[in-house]
Amino acid sequence: MAKITKAVFPVAGLGSRFLPATKAQPKEMLTVVDKPLIQYAVEEAVAAGITELIFITGRNKRAIEDHFDTAYELEAELAASNKTALLESVRNVIPKSVSCIYIRQPAALGLGHAVLCAKPVVGDSPFVVILADDFMLAAPGQPNTTEQMVKLFETEHASMVAVQDVPREQTRQYGIVSGTPYKERLERMSAIVEKPSPSEALSTLAVVGRYVLDGKIFSYLEKIGKGSGGEIQLTDAIAAMMRDHPYLAYRFDSTRYDCGSKLGYLKASVVLGMQHQEIGTEFSSYLRTLQN
Ligand code: G1P
Repeated sequence: MAKITKAVFPVAGLGSRFLPATKAQPKEMLTVVDKPLIQYAVEEAVAAGITELIFITGRNKRAIEDHFDTAYELEAELAASNKTALLESVRNVIPKSVSCIYIRQPAALGLGHAVLCAKPVVGDSPFVVILADDFMLAAPGQPNTTEQMVKLFETEHASMVAVQDVPREQTRQYGIVSGTPYKERLERMSAIVEKPSPSEALSTLAVVGRYVLDGKIFSYLEKIGKGSGGEIQLTDAIAAMMRDHPYLAYRFDSTRYDCGSKLGYLKASVVLGMQHQEIGTEFSSYLRTLQN
């Protein structure tokens, strides 16, 4: 089976939960300490061996393209004033061996439609999908979630979604999976439903924004119609594909922060702030003063 080298980042979403902050800037450019969310997502992919980054963008998302491009004036200014460390940080956002491909999603028709926009570039290959607002902090000393899923794909040869248990009252926010235990941290999936109500949900195992998919998913995406919320849902295409091909659910060991929500975003900012090389110690002592 082919090695996974492509990652799809659907970044066309409006970010309405963060208005007015996202009125004129993409939600994926919100920063956790000193890096935008999309950069963390890209770093996770690059660490997993991905060499082609495919961004599904939309209107008002230019800042993402600029972020991964050369910034001539800024670099010239930093070089002229000998700010070497800062210069390196803007120059080396991604390694030279990695390429960025941008595809416009012409209308906000949902996650499934966004992924389908990647078909001309992905073709038949297996690929990963990363939702940048699901911020994943790897367990100490452990590979990140995408790395783990890519590795599992190489041995299991099955498509895969990342899952975690959520409180039953939250099932309406997620794709919900049911399955049977297969191996450590893995379930063989038997069903997946987009955003069921708590009373209808078959389980509380929720999909978070990491998927390993096979190129075959595109033909299912083309066939399914509109689903939950009147959008073309990736979940529905997975449900259709599961009838013909095996799917696994991977209980990841990273900590996941829902950075599409204010609370999750603040939690991630605090944790990353406390771990930050430059400000971590001082920030942690400041937090302790707030406890009184
Ligand atoms: C999307 C998917 C959903 C998944 C979630 C993970 O929903 O449609 O199945 O559980 O991402 O974050 P959204 O958050 O875009 O509404």
